[in-house]
Amino acid sequence: MDDLIHIAVVGCGYWGPNLVRNFNALPGTRLRMLCDRSKERLDHFRAMYPQAEMRTDVDTAVEDPSIHAVAIATPVHTHYKLAKASLLAGKHTFIEKPMASSVKECEELVQIASDQGLTLMVGHTFLYSPAIRKIKEIVDAGNIGKLLYMSARRLNLGLFQKDINVVWDLAPHDISIIQFITGEAPVAVNCQGGCNVRRGIEDVSNLTLYFAGGEVATIHSSWLDPKKVRDMAIVGARKMIHYDDIEPNQKIKIYDQRVEAPPHYDTFAEFQYSYHYGDMHAPHLVQEEPLKVECAHFLDCIRTGKTPLTDGRQGLDVVRVLDAASRSLKQGGARIDVVPSSRRRARPRKSRKS
Ligand SMILES: NC(=O)c1ccc[n+]([C@@H]2O[C@H](COP(=O)([O-])OP(=O)(O)OC[C@H]3O[C@@H](n4cnc5c(N)ncnc54)[C@H](O)[C@@H]3O)[C@@H](O)[C@H]2O)c1
Repeated sequence: MDDLIHIAVVGCGYWGPNLVRNFNALPGTRLRMLCDRSKERLDHFRAMYPQAEMRTDVDTAVEDPSIHAVAIATPVHTHYKLAKASLLAGKHTFIEKPMASSVKECEELVQIASDQGLTLMVGHTFLYSPAIRKIKEIVDAGNIGKLLYMSARRLNLGLFQKDINVVWDLAPHDISIIQFITGEAPVAVNCQGGCNVRRGIEDVSNLTLYFAGGEVATIHSSWLDPKKVRDMAIVGARKMIHYDDIEPNQKIKIYDQRVEAPPHYDTFAEFQYSYHYGDMHAPHLVQEEPLKVECAHFLDCIRTGKTPLTDGRQGLDVVRVLDAASRSLKQGGARIDVVPSSRRRARPRKSRKS
């Protein structure tokens, strides 16, 4: 018996191979198994990972007693069933975003993981990126003043999904980033969208998040845009940050800019906004693949019993917002309250391998 964490990756389509590559390269782990319904996909990887078993019988594969952890990168509607089987078989489980198709499914997975004392982690990758960590550090240090609002855009042509709309596909990234930076979940949302290519599946959307303190964040998501855009404005009372994930080097720019309204004025003629234009600063960021950090964090949480930064509860909080957004879409953009989490106390996790 070695001391390594033996891992299986389920789902080897577009994203799964990135998990496979990282888990294979990280120390302290052994990539034992690749599972996919498609034999053709597995054949593609056979020569690349000769040490790993290739299995199409996913249900029995996750029950293999020699596997300690399972990472799931299949379409969203399959997450709940696969993750439940993995957790019930005693495996530490990583699920790609979004965690599952409903709040109820996520709550059940969180409960099973807690009852079993297992690590449950969700792949909200951006929370492991140096740029987002830096923005969080700047905001928490009070360097931009009171956080006023945020706006995010995630646009490109494709990749059209068959089982979910653009909100469930792209907005989880921005919702998780916004909740990480604000440190809280929104109390309500509204969401509007359009189905331009396939009936019933929104390919463009505008989602607004409302926070308890009155702050607002907007998220524009699209699979139907001529230009790839991944950016975000984080606006504080004293400074503003622009984050552009497409930029190879200067992903974050901090602008010493603000607008001030006079505190007192008697006549309309006296009212003057004062605009402040100062310097721009682009902080140095360590170059690190966020997914590598994320995979290493999953393994570390398994070894130490630490709660992952993006644990099941955090994944559930994102799905609560997506669920409210879906209800708002159905009601033509009505404002919908986000059901608050019950925050049940989790049992301590088992450390190391199960
Ligand atoms: N973290 C990120 O940045 C990021 C990026 C892209 C996708 N994702 C997520 O990764 C997941 C997969 O997305 P994708 O784009 O790779 O999808 P995909 O359709 O390209 O690949 C899914 C793979 O899963 C296989 N599969 C389907 N049902 C299965 C089942 N029941 N058992 C075993 N294999 C099954 C398919 O054969 C396919 O090879 C989604 O949750 C998606 O949101 C995350």
